[in-house]
Amino acid sequence: MKLVYYPHPALRHPAQPVVMIDNDIRRIVGQMFDIMYENKGYGLAAPQVALPYQLFVMHPKGDPKERDQERVYINPVITEKKGTQEGDEGCLSFPDLFQKVRRAKNIHVQAYDRNGQFFEQDLADLEARIIQHETDHLHGRLFIDFFGPIARMGSRGKLASLEREYLRDQEKKVIPSNKEILRQLRALEEEMAKKGKPTGPVL
Ligand code: CO
Repeated sequence: MKLVYYPHPALRHPAQPVVMIDNDIRRIVGQMFDIMYENKGYGLAAPQVALPYQLFVMHPKGDPKERDQERVYINPVITEKKGTQEGDEGCLSFPDLFQKVRRAKNIHVQAYDRNGQFFEQDLADLEARIIQHETDHLHGRLFIDFFGPIARMGSRGKLASLEREYLRDQEKKVIPSNKEILRQLRALEEEMAKKGKPTGPVL
């Protein structure tokens, strides 16, 4: 499992709902937490490790010493958004890019945890921001999509250099071709579909 960077196509590929929360999923969750801590993140979504599944991991402080505060959101849905907040935001798939993004201040979220237990939460401020950012990842939406004109101008150079780096890595065959990446994503989706139909409410 590896963190992928913009403009890797997995980041724009809408993720599929998880149909069974089994040991495969729990192993993925554990590896995602490791990658998130290694990179000093507060959240990491499955598309960021090239997995087309609706799940993300999050730690409100990003602190691996406080494992009891780890949170896992499987098939999450934000059912309510209220108010607005503006603040600096970054993304592990866009190293060293921080820009102001406007988000809802309060949200209500529903999801399943790594034991398949349904839960819902009312969250505010930074936690609400993280959940909105990560849920967007599951639908192929990225924080750059919400930049205002100033943030867009300020990030043009950084995005262009990430695009150049990506092409260079593909030429060096460090990264497969986009066609091969899409083939791998579809194979993973088929594997998930074989596990059966979603049980319980499909969110
Ligand atoms: Co992100």
